[in-house]
Amino acid sequence: MTGFYEVKAKMNVIKTIELEYTYSDGTNALSGVNFEANAGERVAVLGPNGSGKTTLFYHFNGLIMQTGGEIKVFGENISKDNIDTIRRRVGLVFQDPDSQLFAPTVLEDLAFGPKNLGLSQADVEKKAREVLHRFDIEKLAQKNPANLSGGQKKRVAIAGVVAMEPDVLVLDEPTSGLDVRGVTDTMEILDELNAEGKTIIISTHDSDLAAAWADRIYILNKGEVFRSGVPGHIFADEKLIMEAGLKHPVIVQTFREFRARGISKGEVPLSVLDFMGSVDVEVMNVRCAIAGCDISAGDDVCLKIKDGMLVAIKGSTGVKGKAVFGGKKGEDIAVKDVNGDLQQFAGNITIIRVPGIIEGGSRAADIENVRDILDREKNHKIGAMGTSAKVLMNRMGIRCDIEFDVIQSGILAALRGFNVIVFASGGMADRVAEKVREKKINYSVIAL
Ligand SMILES: Nc1ncnc2c1ncn2[C@@H]1O[C@H](COP(=O)(O)OP(=O)(O)O)[C@@H](O)[C@H]1O
Ligand SMILES: [Mg+2]
Repeated sequence: MTGFYEVKAKMNVIKTIELEYTYSDGTNALSGVNFEANAGERVAVLGPNGSGKTTLFYHFNGLIMQTGGEIKVFGENISKDNIDTIRRRVGLVFQDPDSQLFAPTVLEDLAFGPKNLGLSQADVEKKAREVLHRFDIEKLAQKNPANLSGGQKKRVAIAGVVAMEPDVLVLDEPTSGLDVRGVTDTMEILDELNAEGKTIIISTHDSDLAAAWADRIYILNKGEVFRSGVPGHIFADEKLIMEAGLKHPVIVQTFREFRARGISKGEVPLSVLDFMGSVDVEVMNVRCAIAGCDISAGDDVCLKIKDGMLVAIKGSTGVKGKAVFGGKKGEDIAVKDVNGDLQQFAGNITIIRVPGIIEGGSRAADIENVRDILDREKNHKIGAMGTSAKVLMNRMGIRCDIEFDVIQSGILAALRGFNVIVFASGGMADRVAEKVREKKINYSVIAL
């Protein structure tokens, strides 16, 4: 059985071989591009303006035909016999939503694709409503797409493609021009679709985004693949990134500076969480905790976590260390020779699995159960990821402490001693559990 799944997991959905494209004015936009996206993967094509990202993506569903080389979609060359199927199975979201949205209302726009698939009027309506709900844009249904904000337009454009239920989603710069909230929401939607098994291919010139999100990265430059590989490898190569005309992810830059100063070690981190693991210091700056219990240089101290901060008290149990210089309550002291596992102070993470949109969404959730859990578990940091989880929180009037980068921020909070509750939509709950397990933090999962 394993063999079967391995083969299935590695099946490529899109593959180009020495792909060439020259525009009619003679511009050679792609030369010798070898690209591959496997089923269920998250692939980012990273490159500066004019590097050929859009031209490459237009090939993926036969919008333009190569002038040289080959492209295979689901193992087949694109021909007039299969182009309709390919266009349905590979959904392309344009960089500029205005080139995609044209119906007089959002609802009609979302109904357009399903209608073209030949669904009955009732099914078309059902599909459009479902997508409105999934993208949490019910309020926009009757609006003219032309009157939406940039972020809303992008959301509707993605929704319109998702309504066709493609297996592969190709998005040309899905986050360009969006604010932080818009970027987070968009990437969460993509993660949710990916958790449902869809292959996601995006283009971007944002190294931070690609580093944090992609399973695999292609760097395009002047129409050629400069390099491809897993993010850890790509960003470990300092020269490569510069030569490709790209910026290093902030976290990688920070790590390099820390490493140069002997503070960090190990492999290039791709997230704040990995970065924390790279830091290795001899002497720590820690707060003195107890009134009337001054600490002097050379004293044995033991460390604890209080309100998310390390504190030192006199003693030699648990995590031990030695004071380098002393201080009074509330003052910082320096501690060296720290011995013991700080992770024992980590809080618990409770993952609450909210039914995903395809499982009925937040409407299918048992609200009383949620209230019970929240009553039982006071003083938690709360985060929500995915549409149905966020809709549920809104409906219940629960305020989120963690809104961005929920998995990572939740784990960081737990490592600082806080207990954390993460509401996660559908399949994303498994992803949270996996990450939390990797970091060896205690957790439990409650399915609503
Ligand atoms: N319709 C077109 N006609 C001629 N040249 C084009 C056309 N569209 C794009 N190009 C050129 O092809 C190259 C790649 O462009 P594009 O694929 O849009 O890059 P990216 O999406 O990475 O910014 C650029 O040099 C661009 O000027
Ligand atoms: Mg482009």
